[in-house]
Amino acid sequence: MDPRTAQYLRDFIKFDSPFLESLEKSNRSRNDIQPMIEIEVAKFLAFLIRAKKIKNVLELGSSNGYSSIWMATALRETGGKITTVENHNRIIKEAERNIAESGYSDIITLIHGKAEEECAKMVENGEKFDLIFQDCGKYLYPMLLETTVKLCKKGGIIAADDTLFRVTESVRSGLGDYTHDYNRAVFAHKKLFSTILPIGNGVTLSFKR
Ligand SMILES: C[S@@+](CC[C@H](N)C(=O)[O-])C[C@H]1O[C@@H](n2cnc3c(N)ncnc32)[C@H](O)[C@@H]1O
Repeated sequence: MDPRTAQYLRDFIKFDSPFLESLEKSNRSRNDIQPMIEIEVAKFLAFLIRAKKIKNVLELGSSNGYSSIWMATALRETGGKITTVENHNRIIKEAERNIAESGYSDIITLIHGKAEEECAKMVENGEKFDLIFQDCGKYLYPMLLETTVKLCKKGGIIAADDTLFRVTESVRSGLGDYTHDYNRAVFAHKKLFSTILPIGNGVTLSFKR
């Protein structure tokens, strides 16, 4: 989305919690954590959870809890919960504090671990989710695709963030390569029906048939 259109959309979006608003401001001024989701992506996820009455969310890549808390604001209304996985020792401590301060610790379960290992355990335990939000290391997107398909209920959705980031550069490298591979894989996947929303840095949505 061009920056002026993005700003037009962002001007409509209000925070559902004062805590989230201050966390967004503080995150934006930092360069020692990876970027949080853009506000229009946050609003979209909160919209999706409400519209589909989603009850059980898995997030890969919690960072300091911003996107988990956004989703929790919607899950409070649907009576749902979210499990979120983060592997960074320093950041997870911040996430614990932020989730406790946000007032949503009854909805958010934070797991300290590697997404690839935690997801494998969940598959073994037969866990299933209505919505999986993929936002961890981009190199893991293609690698974890089959696992997330297994963890997604039929009729559920896998949403992946940043999937238009650097994908159109003439020589793709690094992040853009991984997300391009992911996009190709989900569009070709027989069990998935996929599209990409050009909000934030791109959100690939895959519906499990
Ligand atoms: C883009 S940030 C997540 C932002 C967060 N979803 C938000 O919007 O507030 C990606 C996070 O994934 C974490 N991460 C990277 N590789 C991981 C892995 N293998 N397992 C779990 N977390 C991982 C990073 O430490 C980082 O905090």
